[in-house]
Parts: sequence; C-alpha cells; structure tokens
Amino acid sequence: MLLPLPFSMKISVIGTGYVGLVTGACLANIGNDVICVDIDDERISNLRRGVIPFYEPGLRELVEQNAAQKRLMFTTDSQLAIENSDVVFIAVGTPSDGNGKADTAAVFQVADTIARFINGKKIVVVKSTVPVGTCAKIKERLSAQIKGRFGFDVVSNPEFLREGEAIQDFMVPDRIVIGADNGEAAQKIVALYKAIERTGRPIVVTDLQTAELVKYASNAMLAARISFMNELSHLCEKVDADVKAVARGIGLDSRIGSRFLQAGAGFGGSCFPKDVRALAQIMKEHNLPSDMLDAVESVNTRQKLSIVPKVMKLVPDLKGKRIAVWGLSFKPKTDDMREAASIAIINELQKLGANIAAFDPVAEISARKIFEGISYAETPLGALEGAHALVIVTEWDLFRELDKAKMKELMAAPNIVDARNIYDPKDFREIGFSYVGVGR
Ligand code: UDX
Repeated sequence: MLLPLPFSMKISVIGTGYVGLVTGACLANIGNDVICVDIDDERISNLRRGVIPFYEPGLRELVEQNAAQKRLMFTTDSQLAIENSDVVFIAVGTPSDGNGKADTAAVFQVADTIARFINGKKIVVVKSTVPVGTCAKIKERLSAQIKGRFGFDVVSNPEFLREGEAIQDFMVPDRIVIGADNGEAAQKIVALYKAIERTGRPIVVTDLQTAELVKYASNAMLAARISFMNELSHLCEKVDADVKAVARGIGLDSRIGSRFLQAGAGFGGSCFPKDVRALAQIMKEHNLPSDMLDAVESVNTRQKLSIVPKVMKLVPDLKGKRIAVWGLSFKPKTDDMREAASIAIINELQKLGANIAAFDPVAEISARKIFEGISYAETPLGALEGAHALVIVTEWDLFRELDKAKMKELMAAPNIVDARNIYDPKDFREIGFSYVGVGR
C-alpha cells in the first residue's frame, strides 16, 4: 500500500526551453518545489529577472508568480538541483541530426550528470522526445554509473504542448502518458499529476517504449492529416472544388474529426518536421518500410514551395518586384521560426529577384537572424506600400480584420496569395483584387 505522497514534491527540471520552462512553471503552479536548470547562464540570469527567452502567452506571469512564492527557482548548478529533488525531469532538446535521426546526446549528458550527483532515491522522468528504446538505454547507463549505490527509476512522460497554447495544454491536457517498467515509479508520477487528473484528464500508464512511441505516433498522425489535405488541395484547384468545404465535409465524420485538416503552406515548427523524420529513421533502423512517413515529409516540402508558383501566376516576372509577406513564424502566437514555411518561400522568391517587405507581430527578432536582404515593416499595411503582391504565410489574427480598400490603395498591384486561406475570396475579388488561395 503506497503511503499517500506529500502534496508537494521536490522537482528539478533540466533544460529551460519551450518544454522545460513550461513544465517547471506549471509543476510549481500545482504546488511543487521546482528548480529549473540550464547550462546557459545568460538565460538563467534572465529568468531570475523574469525575462522569458521566447514568446509564449501567459508564461512570464506564471514564472513571476511562482518565483515570487519561492516555489520556482533557476540555477546553472545541476548538482544543487539534483541533490535537492526527488524527481528529475530531463527536458533538453533532441534536434534532428544530418539524416533526420533524433540527436539524443544532450539527453545522455543529463543522465550522466544525474549519475554523478545522485545522493538518494530519484525518479528520472524523460520528457524530451526520444526514439523508442532510449529510456531503457538511459536506465542501463545510469545503472552502470550508479552501481547500486542509490535506487532510481526511469519514467517516460512525453509532452504534447503546442506552442502558443503550451500552458493550457499542460494544465488541461487531452491526456497524460506515463511509461514505466515498475508500478511504484508509475504511481509516483501519477500522483504528481493528481491535481490535473482531478479535472478529469485521462492518464495512460504503459511501458517505456509504448509511451515513447505514443509521442512520435501522435505528431506523425497530426502531420499526416495536414499533408493529406495539402496534397488534396491541388486536386481541388484542378476541379474547382473548395478544400475548406472538403475539410468540413469529411471532418463531420466523427471518426475523422474536424481539427488539423487545414490545407495551407505546409507545417513547420520544432516538432512535426523533426518527429516525422525521426520516426521514419526508427522504422528504417528496424528494416521496416516508412512509405507513409516519407510521403508526409515530401508532400510538406513540396507544399511550402507550391506557394511560389501561385505568386508568379499573379506577378509573372518577379525581378525587382516588391512582394509583401505577412507572417514569418511557423504558426501564430509564437516567435519560433524553426522550419517555418516563410523561410522556403522567401528564399525562393528572392532567388527569382523579388524584393521582400515582411511583417510579423513578434518573430521579427528571430527572423533577422535567418533572412538576408529583406525589409521589415512596422505594421501589416506598411509592408504593402508599393507591393506588387501580398503573400499571407502565417495566419495571425491581426491580419483578419484589415481595411481591404486601404490595402488596395497602398499596393502597386492588387494581388494576394492567401497561403492559409484566412480570407473569403469573393470579398477581395469584388473590389478588384486578384486572389489566389490554397485548394480553392
Ligand atoms: C505540435 C503538436 O501539436 C504538439 O502536440 C506537440 O507536442 C508539438 O508539436 P506545435 O508544433 O507547437 O505542436 O504546433 P501545431 O499547432 O501542432 O502546428 C504545427 C504546424 O502545423 C504549424 O506549422 C501549423 O501551421 C501547421 N498546421 C496545423 C497546418 O498546416 N494545418 C492544420 O490544420 C494545423
């Protein structure tokens, strides 16, 4: 019979990126004592001053509140954190290496650090997205170094946080997945999430490899839906069907559901591209065909570039022409530019001689590190001055209610490529715009 755990646990979270920082702040917010660790001391000193290293709605306030109540602290000292916690979350990045494989070096470095400073029983929780079988390898590596001096468990607890909605996704998740090779460790982490489970959120408890695979399979399935609709959008254009109406028509089938069926400029971000590639690599490593996953990726790559011919349909010779681009981040409500569709699109337009005037509400700082030779407007309308076409690449809400007549007045030619289908074509066509969408 497990003794009821104290309400609050002592937790450290190694890695203060999109996942680690949200996890740390939310676990503190449900009553735990949390120490967040990073090797980047500038990031840690900023966090101590309440400066968040990326844009995530609501995170600054959450960090401030919990740091003020001394339930959340930041340090570069892994030893201090590990020695003063019962549960250690590994939340460091696992980027794609050259050929799409997940690079887990940082994860194993953290495991070695835990082995070095372990001073009592610990539960090591792997929140980073790792290839199937990694948790078992971490367990072996820890055993080889700890040599029985202290007890420990390894638990898989993958994250399902969407950027821009990360706090909501943590506090009100569709599900919590916990993988473990023994019931006691699983139950301790189930207890940690009690405050969230109480709101009726299901917890799936399974083995390590199944939990690791659920993460990849979720992202791959979501990405597959997007590539499916993107591929279908080209047929819609040929037969003059409306891909948004197709999405609505199929989405009403309860077995399909209506979300993640929006055709557009393709998916980006730090997860879908990386996880689809990583899962395909895992299949290959087991000598299994990965046709579906390879297709999800190749359709997506093609989809991003398919926006450029749409611009050329309206502006056949791009040399020296000014093209306005609205939205640079990979999706709204984030400043994250990782694998953003805007990168492929702008690079291609520049190759064809276009001058780019870009606007993004928050990602300009990130974008300046990526693009060469583009200008940045202060406002959406500012980007339109003298533009021969407007391309909407990221569907920020602020683009939805702008004065169409003013837009037309500012532009050198009333051309619009709506790569996220945010507008109704007739609203623009009836005032003289040439409008091209995706699958419409
Ligand atoms: C995703 C998963 O949703 C999340 O559960 C996981 O933990 C991390 O990866 P995120 O990458 O932040 O989250 O963004 P998401 O909102 O899922 O969108 C991913 C990409 O798909 C974006 O580029 C978005 O523009 C695109 N997308 C999304 C579409 O093109 N069509 C859609 O219908 C939905």
